[in-house]
Amino acid sequence: MTANADLNSASAGPEPAGVVCPRHVGLIMDGNGRWAEARGLSRTEGHRQGLDTLRRIIRHAGHIGLEYITIFSFSSENWSRPKAEVSFLMGLLRRFVQQDLSELHETNVRIRIIGDRDGLEKGIGQLLHEAEELTRGNTGLTLVVAFNYGARNELARAMRLLAERVKAGELEPEDICVEKISSALDTGSLPDPDLIIRTSGEVRLSNFLLWQAAYSELYFCDCHWPDFDEAAFDKALEAYGMRSRRFGGLSAKAL
Ligand code: FPP
Repeated sequence: MTANADLNSASAGPEPAGVVCPRHVGLIMDGNGRWAEARGLSRTEGHRQGLDTLRRIIRHAGHIGLEYITIFSFSSENWSRPKAEVSFLMGLLRRFVQQDLSELHETNVRIRIIGDRDGLEKGIGQLLHEAEELTRGNTGLTLVVAFNYGARNELARAMRLLAERVKAGELEPEDICVEKISSALDTGSLPDPDLIIRTSGEVRLSNFLLWQAAYSELYFCDCHWPDFDEAAFDKALEAYGMRSRRFGGLSAKAL
């Protein structure tokens, strides 16, 4: 039993028969650095292993027919890390897209990018754009890569967009509603995440999908991201299947 076990357990009895599978899973892939340090390795080695784990989880998600997976691969706050680590993470993303794009495309994965593209190195911005374009017509798993992403920054950009539309006379202030804000976000056309998984024992969202996570189920596990595997992922889905989602209402049983 782990320290976080209670946080993950069902808040009410299990749903009736049939496993309830999430459509959209968000992943906060935490603990690469600690995994490496515990083994006397460099932090970058932890990120390298983390990328291998990511590849396995994406394949697995495709096999089990998940519709969307959003990965927090570089946050807008990660720029404050040592320059060498930031540059390694940039290189890792570049390598991921260059080496894995053809496999992802062949396996019908659609890639979407969220996050602030301003301030990204031109080459990376272009690479991400090409990955999105190449896979635009794919109909399998949608892999949403949150890169240079921070939820507050995303909300600020969305507010700016809406304010500009008001200024241009295209929108009245009283027309601004939940739906308009949702569709002005980077995730505009995506469903909200049903489940957000964070590894490595930290119990917070760290500026990941704050608006979209309003009714997400949260799952925390103690293992570091490089140790997270298919079985750990299935365990999180199983825990999700036991949750009672009420979205502020009452469960069907109580009505
Ligand atoms: C958090 O671990 C992880 C990151 C900041 C990067 C996540 C990146 C990967 C899993 C590799 C895949 C990357 C790309 C770009 C596709 P941490 O370094 O904060 O770990 P710590 O909390 O133990 O220091």
